[in-house]
Amino acid sequence: MNAPIRIGVAGLGTVGASLVRLITRHGNDLAVRSGRPIVVSGVSARDIGRDRGIDTSGMEWFDDPVALARDPGNDIFVELIGGADGAAKASVEAALGVGKHVVTANKALLAEHGNALARLAEDGAASLNFEAAAAGGIPIIKTLRESLAGNTVSRIYGILNGTSNYILTRMEQERLSFEDCLAEAQKLGYAEADPSFDIGGQDAAHKLALLTSIAFGTEVDASAIYVEGISSITSADIEAADELGYRIKLLGVACRTDSGIEQRVHPAMVPRTSAIARIDGVTNAVAVEADFVGQLVLSGPGAGGDATASSVVSDIADIARGDRVGTFGRPASDLEPYRRATMRAHEGGYYVRLSVYDRPGAFAAISQRMADRGISLESIVQRHRAPRTAAPGHLIPVAPAPVIMITYETTEAEMRAALETIKADGHIADDPQMIRIEQFT
Ligand SMILES: NC(=O)c1ccc[n+]([C@@H]2O[C@H](COP(=O)([O-])OP(=O)(O)OC[C@H]3O[C@@H](n4cnc5c(N)ncnc54)[C@H](OP(=O)(O)O)[C@@H]3O)[C@@H](O)[C@H]2O)c1
Repeated sequence: MNAPIRIGVAGLGTVGASLVRLITRHGNDLAVRSGRPIVVSGVSARDIGRDRGIDTSGMEWFDDPVALARDPGNDIFVELIGGADGAAKASVEAALGVGKHVVTANKALLAEHGNALARLAEDGAASLNFEAAAAGGIPIIKTLRESLAGNTVSRIYGILNGTSNYILTRMEQERLSFEDCLAEAQKLGYAEADPSFDIGGQDAAHKLALLTSIAFGTEVDASAIYVEGISSITSADIEAADELGYRIKLLGVACRTDSGIEQRVHPAMVPRTSAIARIDGVTNAVAVEADFVGQLVLSGPGAGGDATASSVVSDIADIARGDRVGTFGRPASDLEPYRRATMRAHEGGYYVRLSVYDRPGAFAAISQRMADRGISLESIVQRHRAPRTAAPGHLIPVAPAPVIMITYETTEAEMRAALETIKADGHIADDPQMIRIEQFT
């Protein structure tokens, strides 16, 4: 057996504590599989006195994660603090700066600073591995970077945020409102007290940015992602989707188009029979479409201390074995500048829900506005309101009734223009609801 490889772990929270537990429990097997014993030699967190349910005796304590990162007493620095800047960034830079290998689960850090950090790693001939940063326990990074190295990827998409998927699943199963399902998710610990990052789509966007870079060989550019969250989804949309044979999922999608690479996170209608539609609750899934392998779908836990630690350990084992790959699957200098396809050029079908005033001609006028933009309707359904009565001598107020349309393929620019005109015509009561339909071959 070779000499042990020593790791320094900064951050002993949900993931860090699970990592120490995993290494303690599976140390022997890991040593055999990696060819070297893996030993936690140093740790860092904020509060030395906190009971973490792990045994840290024999591990040197560091108040400062940067000092741990630079300490020659460890060979790999594992960053599990979190956040795009601050202590996480400073310590990762410090480790790479002295040519030390780094393993991190930090999607925010890599989405913001991934290009510079990949170059820094390369300059020091060090690895910067991040299997746990995208979809937690699902080994999608290794799959893309190594197992699919012989393929050209055309599209990658997935359910990358467990909180949002839990809320949408519960809305469908229980026919509850978005607000009720969010409150339930918070009670069960699936959503943070401030859930905006999850339900607003930014968390999924960070993960998508990393997947895009590896899948398409481009520099990371999280700022180029079109992001829309799930808070506008209503029970009426969930019900209509069900009747039309779809389910609504918050998807992260990156695909190659003629004008560049499209990156988007938004609620999408997916056919009920598709593999992605069957992913329920907090589970995540990532699908890859590539020329030689065809389609591949991986699903599993996207979060949780143990599942995430499982991915962190796979990165550590790679380094222990001496397996080295470029951070994003190729040398940093070979990553192409990201060429953004604008969202206005996006092509696809759309679901539209309008609250239309029950007036003669309104329905026909709306259809005409769609036709004016070259948009063909696959279906249009007007839902009838319950009959109303008025007291004698009073007029029945004109109340809006829902109209649901499914369009054939068109562009986002035409769709938005048509809806703006319809709104300006004054036939609808509220802002139109528009949900993209994700096409599957
Ligand atoms: N949790 C998940 O399911 C999950 C899944 C995938 C990826 N990740 C990623 O994994 C990373 C860690 O997440 P987590 O959920 O384990 O976070 P967490 O439970 O909040 O733990 C963060 C840890 O960092 C320590 N820390 C904070 N600031 C520090 C500083 N300035 N110096 C030293 N230590 C500091 C904290 O110390 P104290 O304990 O003393 O406060 C704590 O131990 C994040 O990047 C996250 O995005 C998490």
